[in-house]
Amino acid sequence: MHHFRYAGPNLHCESVDLAEIARLYGTPTYVYSAATMADNYTRLANGLAGLDLQICYAMKANSSLAILRHFANLGAAFDLVSGGEVRRVLAAGANIKSSVFAGVGKTEAEIKLALENGIFAFHVESEPEIARINHVAGKLGVKAPIAIRINPDVDAHTHAKITTGKSDNKFGIPLTQAAAAYEAAARYPNILIKGAQMHIGSQLTSLAPFVEAVKKVAPFVAELKAKYGITYWSIGGGIGIIYKDALASGDPAWWSAQPAETRPLTPEAYGEALKPLLAPLGLKILLEPGRYLVGNAGVLLTRVEFLKRGKGKSFLIVDAAMNDLVRPAMYDSYHEIVPLRRDSTRAALTADVVGPVCESGDCFAKDRTLQEVGEGEFIALMSAGAYGFTMSSRYNTRNLTAEVLVQGAASDLINVRETFEQQIQNEKLPAFLTK
Ligand code: LLP
Repeated sequence: MHHFRYAGPNLHCESVDLAEIARLYGTPTYVYSAATMADNYTRLANGLAGLDLQICYAMKANSSLAILRHFANLGAAFDLVSGGEVRRVLAAGANIKSSVFAGVGKTEAEIKLALENGIFAFHVESEPEIARINHVAGKLGVKAPIAIRINPDVDAHTHAKITTGKSDNKFGIPLTQAAAAYEAAARYPNILIKGAQMHIGSQLTSLAPFVEAVKKVAPFVAELKAKYGITYWSIGGGIGIIYKDALASGDPAWWSAQPAETRPLTPEAYGEALKPLLAPLGLKILLEPGRYLVGNAGVLLTRVEFLKRGKGKSFLIVDAAMNDLVRPAMYDSYHEIVPLRRDSTRAALTADVVGPVCESGDCFAKDRTLQEVGEGEFIALMSAGAYGFTMSSRYNTRNLTAEVLVQGAASDLINVRETFEQQIQNEKLPAFLTK
């Protein structure tokens, strides 16, 4: 469910007309719905009610300060993966003390920064990393809290680039070697064994892999509790969202119309399946959702530059490009595309929707049928709230886009569009080229 819908002919985000946002702030622009994020958060928290639960929002999905603050206000902590993300949490005035630090290559400087700011735990991925954390903690005269990331070798049935829980991924320590890794960790003087962690992949659209992984790892986690007194288990993120019927899925009626066998994953079903498996452990449970919390809460607004009618093929050329939203180019991902002004008298158009960047991969959709739109009109790429802005780049010397947050009838810029001067501010011409 989300809060993007047509009111009359105009697509709204909550009570705000998106065409007005496009006119006011220009395009391309990301627009996020605060109510959608809050609903997503609350539904997940309610789905697992009864457990001692901490949701740690995987902020790599969308780390704009306003979004972090919004989730912090709802009670979230964060799953972060870099020193930059530690500093973002602090800059947002949000809770670092319940947040966890993941990632396979933490540097000494990042470990130090996180320890100095009271991180809840490091999610460690290898034995050399434990040694490094021990070393940094020793220099600071503290004990570093850790959980080991256990790789359960479960197939998440998702895109190869975002599967993480198979034994041939770079992530975590295989379940078969995890006991030895904990024994090794226990021998370090400056390490405090605090929990266990796993994460099997992203954009999972069925319950089965989650259930399989929890069932597979739970007995080992119970042993860890008995042996080391661990207090928590983080079961990671990965809950998938609707991309194909994105707009329709904002309507509760769409959900009721889905046959039970093929009904997409809901937070309620997730909670119902996992709660009975997790509750008997008597541990604090952490979740690390990223996409689920923000994916369907954001759209990318873009303006049509040209409709180019080719031989047997048309191209809708828009002002957003692969640098603004790289997911279609990188993962062949599908994003629904809808006009900001709906007009049933218009003919249908089948076209490739492409950006202006000079490579063929700069394509948001192939042979997509949508209402005919012309130069100067606006369209929205749906389900763009996760891994959209955070993965953007300046390729082709394009400025990073603006971001706007909507709450009810209120809207505000949360990230001002970058300027060319800001883009080149750190560049310089060396003396040997200019003399
Ligand atoms: N926890 C860990 C340890 C992770 O590595 C990730 C995501 C998450 C949680 C959050 O997963 P989520 O709930 O968002 O599925 N850029 C890709 C997704 C990469 C996900 C990386 N790890 C995309 O655009 O599809």
